Amino acid sequence: MRAQQRVVVVAGACGGVGTSTLAALVAAEAARAGAGTALVDVAAHGAGIEVLLGVEGRPGARWRDLDGLRGSIAPADLDGVLPVWRGVEVLGGDRRGGGPPGDALEAVWPALRERCTTVVVDAPVTALDGDVGEVVLAGAPSVLVVTGQDVRGVAAALAALAVLPPAAWAAGAGDPDDSRSAALVLRGRRAPRVAPAEAAGVLGLPLAGVLPTDRGVAEACDRGFGPVVGRRSALARAVARVTRAAGVHPGGTASAGVGARGEAAWGWDGARV
Ligand SMILES: Nc1ncnc2c1ncn2[C@@H]1O[C@H](COP(=O)(O)OP(=O)(O)OP(=O)(O)O)[C@@H](O)[C@H]1O
Ligand SMILES: [Mg+2]
Repeated sequence: MRAQQRVVVVAGACGGVGTSTLAALVAAEAARAGAGTALVDVAAHGAGIEVLLGVEGRPGARWRDLDGLRGSIAPADLDGVLPVWRGVEVLGGDRRGGGPPGDALEAVWPALRERCTTVVVDAPVTALDGDVGEVVLAGAPSVLVVTGQDVRGVAAALAALAVLPPAAWAAGAGDPDDSRSAALVLRGRRAPRVAPAEAAGVLGLPLAGVLPTDRGVAEACDRGFGPVVGRRSALARAVARVTRAAGVHPGGTASAGVGARGEAAWGWDGARV
């Protein structure tokens, strides 16, 4: 069965909780079976996801190089153009700064979607409030709202939901209980005062997963290897569950995912998270 085409928007409700790391790990998980995968960083600030991945030295286009691009390009026009990390084509900023310039995102987005089975977007919620959001949230993608497992994190996620454009909720428009297109991912805390189910209840989102703290992941990034985690680690298992919950099945089978009303939108099973 052909894998279902899917866009996963990983939306960080607050800074530093591991949104980019999760986006990268979801993309790597999607690429594991060999299906075309792209990771698109749309943050307007920062040094770009390439530093996290350790691919700064690899040749290929970054957003700044696409400045002035308009209209639309063919999928094949991207052949060999983007740097690749663990089988994932990466499009993001670099230390020259800035997110997608001008119309560059609109120009490459259809080509990326056509050439890749899975497109993962790394997006602070603030980057989705505008043109960028309109492009990446069109067509009812899976939206993973990432926040910390504490009171501040839940408050930030509530504020994020208020600014997420209505397109984020397209699949369940008008009825929040019907095939919602967003789910919650918590960056777990030791001895938390906020239970995952409680956070999910306050936010009105299904819980896609809780990411444990992994002692090795930051060090691997600092050493230039990118977010590499042990296959059997608790973080890898949590990422695999979140990836499936987002409708991406690395085995290559079609997925229910998020879609038409009445479909099983999320592989969400409270007992397993
Ligand atoms: N599950 C985790 N366990 C331990 N450290 C983590 C985990 N996830 C991310 N980190 C570390 O936390 C730091 C921030 O991670 P990351 O850049 O992914 O967060 P972010 O939410 O995207 O931040 P920003 O707001 O800057 O975009 C990095 O040093 C990263 O290696
Ligand atoms: Mg980030």
